[in-house]
Parts: sequence; structure tokens; C-alpha cells
Amino acid sequence: MFRKASGYSSDREPELLAGLDLGTSKVTVVVAEREHGSEEAQIIGVGQAPSNGIRKGLIVNLDQAVRSVRQAVSDAQNMVGQDITEVTVAFGGGEVTSIRTKGMVSLGRTPRPVMQLDIERVIEAAQADVAVPANQSILHTIPVEYSLDGNVGIDDPLGMTAIRLDIQLQSVIVPTSTIQNVLNCVDKAGLDVSGLVLKPLAAALGVISPEEALAGAVVIDIGGGTTGVAVFSDGRPKHLGLISVGGDHITNDIGSVLKLPLNKSEELKREVSVFTGPEDPEETVDFVYNSRNYSIAKKDLHEIVRCRMEELCEVLIRPQIKAAGISMLPAGIILTGGVSKTEGIDAFVLDVMDLPSRVSSPLDANRMPPGRNSQEYSAAAGIIRYIAEKERDPFRYLDNPLIRGVSGEDAGRPSIVPETRVRIKLDENNKASSSGFNPLEGLKNAFKDLF
Ligand SMILES: Nc1ncnc2c1ncn2[C@@H]1O[C@H](COP(=O)(O)OP(=O)(O)OP(=O)(O)O)[C@@H](O)[C@H]1O
Ligand SMILES: [Mg+2]
Repeated sequence: MFRKASGYSSDREPELLAGLDLGTSKVTVVVAEREHGSEEAQIIGVGQAPSNGIRKGLIVNLDQAVRSVRQAVSDAQNMVGQDITEVTVAFGGGEVTSIRTKGMVSLGRTPRPVMQLDIERVIEAAQADVAVPANQSILHTIPVEYSLDGNVGIDDPLGMTAIRLDIQLQSVIVPTSTIQNVLNCVDKAGLDVSGLVLKPLAAALGVISPEEALAGAVVIDIGGGTTGVAVFSDGRPKHLGLISVGGDHITNDIGSVLKLPLNKSEELKREVSVFTGPEDPEETVDFVYNSRNYSIAKKDLHEIVRCRMEELCEVLIRPQIKAAGISMLPAGIILTGGVSKTEGIDAFVLDVMDLPSRVSSPLDANRMPPGRNSQEYSAAAGIIRYIAEKERDPFRYLDNPLIRGVSGEDAGRPSIVPETRVRIKLDENNKASSSGFNPLEGLKNAFKDLF
């Protein structure tokens, strides 16, 4: 029997929530259950399949990617004994731009409580300054700071009294074609899309504690083909960035420098520390492969891994952290993703980035199946937290309407988006606005040429 995700289950049945992480190395489907009336969702299964047709986080072969998604869904369905029909998808790849804009609204001459409409108005005001390049779309609109009468750091202005409300908004912009390919892939795999989330945000929500997010911290998710960076402070993601470099680059470096086949390079990569070289500089790894004898110096392996990681941290990650404009990050760096399993990576990152570093598995690891609860599964677990946070606070992460347009027949079905949510639509210039809109019209306008 079908049990559908959020909004479809009967009163007595727990709700089923599902997330799909389109990774470069593996596709993961996480399934959670939530009792009616409860805010807590409990992960009950994690399905997965090797990822084909996805490179550096981008779908490069639609049919292969569809097959991987189907396989991961079927694996998850077998695990939980339920059918999955609707997923929130974490994806990344290609160019991601994070823009900060400001907005202000006056509440009148005398102080009065802030209403929901005021928050919608101030978001609209900040959106007016977002310049979205042609062929790109806003994926996330995230209020990152509210001020009332010049007092910054207001957590939730609703109901508070002032004469002026200011906002800083973060708009995360990605190529429209990237979104469309993700939607097509999931659609072809026979699933509805109930939400989209950028992988660095999902991974961050999967591992960051509320205290760390409040104090200021960076989550770095180093996967197979991408590295996600999410900078948090005051409990909110102030900057999201995606870099098209991951652990596969380290494997390729080893393969090309030492002239080794990739599967052997992958194996050797996992044996070396990025922080300390071998105690004995002459130490070698000796093996026979395809009737050839190899003797690889461990210090060479260490150097190759270190070199790539230095480039990643200093040249690629550092500017992303700087772009957030946060002067203090006392909770330091939280490392996750498959590459965070590299020996010595926390000491290495502390050394290079000069910030305290720790490696983290998902916060929900103890609720996830053994063997599918380590760092590689942080983004998948984070999707469930993303869904829950979004429902708890309708102004936390605002949706792009395209995700609801894809299942076009859905117009009359209940929406997962709370009625209170500001609805962002794309106009003919792909610029977001938040007036009342018909999701089907929004989709048709945005993708006239594609349908
Ligand atoms: N013990 C280990 N030591 C070093 N690297 C490892 C280890 N285990 C896994 N990796 C690397 O982690 C990467 C896979 O990580 P992960 O599963 O997080 O990627 P992904 O989510 O599929 O990809 P992406 O998020 O980049 O699209 C691979 O490059 C793999 O070689
Ligand atoms: Mg990943």
C-alpha cells in the first residue's frame, strides 16, 4: 500500500518523509517517519545505489542517473517496507552563487507589533535588488538577519514591536538547467518532488548542533566530486558555496602521478594520513597488480594527498568562508562527507585554516542503519532536518516554485508548502517575486521553450 510523504497520510498513520541525495559517488534515499502532531521525525531507513551518470555533482547522463535513483529508491523501499512516491532532493553541481541583499519596511509612526505581512513585505523589498542572470534561477531565499529599529540579531520579529523592520536576505542562485535536469531525472524515476535543497545546506543541517550554528561555525562536506561550504552564525546559514572538487580528484592525482589504476589509487588513498608523513621516509607499499610489481613510497602518497587538500582549503574553501563576512567563528570547522574519513584531516585543517576542526557523522547517526550512518550520509540525514525546519518556521527557507510545478497535475492537491509561506515565482527575467501566483503559470513562463 502507498503511504505518501508529508500532507497525504491519514490521521492515524504516521507521516512518511523521504529525502534523495544525488551524490557523485552514491545516490542515497533516506526515509523518516513522524507521528501526527509531532515535530520530530525519526529516520527508519537508508537506501542507496552506486551513482552513475553524475559527475562533479552534475547529472551528465540522464538515463544512468534515473537508473541509480530507481535502484536507491527500491533499496530504501525494501528496507522500510513502504512505497516512496515523493522526495525532497539534495543536489549540487555547477555554478552556485550566493547573494546578500537588504530590505527595509516602515511599520508606521508609532511602534506596533510586526505582522506576517510585514515580513513578507520586507522579504519582497530585499528581493527587489537580486539580479538573477539569464538562464539562472533562485533556488533558496534565506532570511539571514532581522533588525528592529536598528537592533540587529532579532531571531524572529513576528509579534515584536517596532517602527522599522530591516532584513538581510541570502539568495542562492543556480543554473536553471541544473534544476530542470534534477526535476526531469526524479520525474523519470517515477517520483514527485516535494522540495529541493542545495547539498551544502543539507549536509550542514545533518551535522551542526544548534549551539555551533548560534556561535558561528563552518560545515565543510567533502564528497566524491564536490565540496560544500556552509557558514553559520546566529543560528542561520550566512553563506552557501559549492566547489567542484572532491575526493575523486585525489584518487585521480594518485593515479596519474604514480601511473596506477584508479581502483588501486582509491585503495591507497584511504591508507595515508594527510597530516603526518610516514615515520620512516623510506617506507613503501608493495603490491603486484596485473602481473606488474609496484613499490610506492608512502611519503609520495602523503605528498599527493596533502597537495590537493592544501589547494582545496587555501585556494577554494578559504574565499568561500571569507565571502560570508563573519569575523568570528568560535565553533570552528565541522568536516563531513566521505573525504573527512582521511586520517589526520582534523589536525591538517586546524593547521591550514587556523580554526578548531572536528569530523562529524550525522547528528541522527544512532537512528540510522549501521554502515549507513557515517560521514557520507550527513547530507541525506540533513534533508529530513531541512524538511522539519522548514515546516516549523515558514520563513526560514523559502521555496522556488518550480519544484511544485514539475508535477503539474498537482495544482489541486494539498501543498507541502504551508499556506503562510511567501511564494516565490520567477518572472520572465527569472527574477523572483512573491505575489500570489499559479505554480503552473510560473513553470510554463520559466520553461516556455522546454515544454
Ligand atoms: N576512508 C577514506 N579515506 C579517504 N577518502 C575516503 C574514505 N572513504 C571514502 N572516501 C572518499 O569519499 C568520497 C565519497 O564521499 P561521499 O560519499 O560523501 O560523496 P558523494 O556524496 O557521493 O559525492 P558528492 O557529494 O561530491 O556529490 C570518495 O572520493 C571516496 O574516495
Ligand atoms: Mg555528498
